[in-house]
Amino acid sequence: MHIAVVGTGYVGLVSGACLADFGLKVACVDVDEKKIEALREGIIPFYEPGLEDLVRKNVKAGRLTFTTNLAEAVKNSLVVFICVGTPPLPDGSSDLSQIKSVALALADVLDDYKVIVTKSTVPVGTNRWIKRLIDENKKVNVEVDIISNPEFLREGNAVEDFMRPDRVIIGGESAHAIAIIKDIYRPLYLAETPFIITNLETAEMIKYASNAFLALKISFINEVANFCEKVGADVTVVAKGMGLDPRIGPKFLNPGPGFGGSCFPKDVSSLIHQGRQVGSPFKLLEAVLEVNERQKLRAIEKLEALLGDLNGKTIAILGLTFKPNTSDVRESPALKIIPELLKKGANVKVYDPAGMEEFKKAAPNMSIEYAKDPEACAEKADGLLILTEWNEFRFLDLKKIKSLMKTPVLVDMRNIYDPDIVKKLGFRYSGIGRT
Ligand SMILES: NC(=O)c1ccc[n+]([C@@H]2O[C@H](COP(=O)([O-])OP(=O)(O)OC[C@H]3O[C@@H](n4cnc5c(N)ncnc54)[C@H](O)[C@@H]3O)[C@@H](O)[C@H]2O)c1
Repeated sequence: MHIAVVGTGYVGLVSGACLADFGLKVACVDVDEKKIEALREGIIPFYEPGLEDLVRKNVKAGRLTFTTNLAEAVKNSLVVFICVGTPPLPDGSSDLSQIKSVALALADVLDDYKVIVTKSTVPVGTNRWIKRLIDENKKVNVEVDIISNPEFLREGNAVEDFMRPDRVIIGGESAHAIAIIKDIYRPLYLAETPFIITNLETAEMIKYASNAFLALKISFINEVANFCEKVGADVTVVAKGMGLDPRIGPKFLNPGPGFGGSCFPKDVSSLIHQGRQVGSPFKLLEAVLEVNERQKLRAIEKLEALLGDLNGKTIAILGLTFKPNTSDVRESPALKIIPELLKKGANVKVYDPAGMEEFKKAAPNMSIEYAKDPEACAEKADGLLILTEWNEFRFLDLKKIKSLMKTPVLVDMRNIYDPDIVKKLGFRYSGIGRT
């Protein structure tokens, strides 16, 4: 079976490479000519473990190609996956302009029956709108079926998540189209992955409800952590004790500097907006975002508690990405924390194993120093702030780091160090949710 994947970002490229690995012939399409050129040369535009090898293997096997020519890719395909971005607009709603332009471009080039599958995260009702756009604008009178197949991969673990998902959601009305999509995912079906076959709206909502719930869990544990600090409790033990209850579960109960990334903030905002639109407000989710914004500033409160006025002080930051194993800095806490530090007159040095280039692009005018490794970052710093739990930050040579710093102050917003050990080394230390 031939497949076209439109959009070669995190979701499109991972989906395209994994579907090719299932044995399907996949053409990945993007409007970004530079990206397609780079991909043809085997250059992956972002850091994602395992992806480069998978792309190389499937290109070599002749199953995976890259093109800017949508018409050609669609002509040869029975199924077209839409994987373009749905970023937030200033009012929190989803910007569907990329989706619209793909739908109209598809309407132009469709020449035969196709199944259009939306993997992008789109507000409830969007799949029906895409079908309508295509039907109203198609040049040739061909039939089109639409399927909602939201994606749940996590950056940093994307290939594994696509190959071994917790579930596959297929929303649609045409039994024929659903059968085709089930056939595409046959390797997962055989591996007993649960499949949920449902209508378009339910499939769209499963994605939003899942992300909103995970974001809610994070904001909840962050508030618990803040409370624990006031009353002498230890949030790590509280989370462990809570997580042993199977109704709660242990995951996503790690406090930190607030959630970021390209999904949680925008998906929660979008769902709030959708709720308002239909007169069914999500009050809880409004609080989730408010708590999250406040949480990002906890890092600064902690630095001030240990260092006093930050004016003229040098703060070394380890971690710019919103989580480890990705180069993605979209909505990362560092993007909010660093400008606040600069406003307070601090000098900022940063290091990240994979996110520095992306950060420079996201904040080109930020006056900060990029260091070549954690030690160079810590040199002459008044305070060290850990924002992302990269593995390489878990085993820093703290004795050496301390000898390099001006004052041994460590604010660990990911609780990756044992407070007793760090304090014994002579650091003034503040974790999160532990006094
Ligand atoms: N990143 C994630 O972890 C993740 C996980 C699950 C779901 N999603 C959802 O998947 C969607 C894509 O996310 P992403 O992070 O891969 O986005 P991205 O911004 O990394 O990639 C989008 C790609 O689409 C391309 N594009 C835009 N308009 C196009 C057009 N008209 N024709 C062809 N290509 C076009 C862009 O050039 C870009 O390469 C979003 O809706 C997102 O919410 C993302």
